[in-house]
Amino acid sequence: MKSLLDVRDLKVRFITESGVARAVDGVDLSIHAGKTLGVVGESGCGKSVTSRAIMGLVEMPGWIESGQILFQSKDGPVDLAALPPRGQRMRGIRGREIAMIFQEPMTALNPVLTIGDQIIEAMQVHGAIDRRMARERALAGLAAVRIPLPHMRLDEYPHQLSGGMRQRAMIAMALVNSPSLLIADEPTTALDVTIQAQVLDLMNDLRREFSGAIMFITHDLGVIAAMADDVVVMYRGRVVECAPVRSIFRNPLHPYTQGLLRSVPSLTSRRGARLQTIEGSVPRATERERGCSFAARCAQVMPACREAIPASVAIAPGHTTACFLHHSSVAVSGDA
Ligand SMILES: Nc1ncnc2c1ncn2[C@@H]1O[C@H](COP(=O)(O)OP(=O)(O)OP(=O)(O)O)[C@@H](O)[C@H]1O
Ligand code: SF4
Ligand SMILES: [Mg+2]
Repeated sequence: MKSLLDVRDLKVRFITESGVARAVDGVDLSIHAGKTLGVVGESGCGKSVTSRAIMGLVEMPGWIESGQILFQSKDGPVDLAALPPRGQRMRGIRGREIAMIFQEPMTALNPVLTIGDQIIEAMQVHGAIDRRMARERALAGLAAVRIPLPHMRLDEYPHQLSGGMRQRAMIAMALVNSPSLLIADEPTTALDVTIQAQVLDLMNDLRREFSGAIMFITHDLGVIAAMADDVVVMYRGRVVECAPVRSIFRNPLHPYTQGLLRSVPSLTSRRGARLQTIEGSVPRATERERGCSFAARCAQVMPACREAIPASVAIAPGHTTACFLHHSSVAVSGDA
């Protein structure tokens, strides 16, 4: 399958008071045209920093140390990791070919501009457009994200909208230039549960209508099950497992993925039964590790796990994992 975007061995660093943080530490992932890639992992694992690197939004005290972000732009293939973030080429891609929606819409919306003017501005950034036509398109955009009375909302300011409506307005703004990739970073986490479900429903519908690819970042495996075609599981700045969504749920291979799945309430779990959580916490990005970064929390840890970082290996078509438990099985089947 053709990739729209290939991230290869991406490393992003930040200078912090306690040393250099290896926020993203060798990430490989692919996003296929028209498909949804779910990215899951606990807090601090590097999900947002990976997406910000794709958008050209890593700024000092952070930088892309190495790696490639190969994107099939309308003007031909380009390595986004090598482009100056504020340069003309990156500005032409950001917002037009790759758009992003964030957890907190107020950080993305301008409080002193009406919703309509912001959507129109997003269209105009990438070339002059007749104002009346732009208004029509903005109105259609608000209707597409099912904002009630869109012609009224168009002339309102962000603070006049509810949280859920603001999130819908941000989705409309992101989609107005028909990007080929939409990045959604925890777009429903800040909303209350009912509104969360409505916005997820909307995104699921848009996913079918919108022909672009989506990178959907979330803590929530239930959301992954509902939205994703493929899944990347991140732990401490790296991808530990990558597979089609069905394989992640039916045959999780990495002990971390298995742990995440055990902490999801299932329909069959007894009411009131305690959910199992993964004990311990993600090592800090400034910590130096020798072996597998999950070793301190892994019930299946072996002496070899503390000596080296496991490389990612393919176990089945489209299914890779980085864990020594699966290295030996690969060696055995390779010898046979
Ligand atoms: N501006 C920054 N300065 C210093 N360190 C940073 C900065 N941004 C991110 N980091 C570090 O990079 C690592 C990865 O952060 P990131 O925000 O990508 O995590 P995440 O997986 O998105 O977590 P969450 O689920 O909480 O959003 C963390 O250790 C974080 O502290
Ligand atoms: S490499 Fe070892 S410590 Fe790491 S997840 Fe696999 S079994 Fe656990
Ligand atoms: Mg994040």
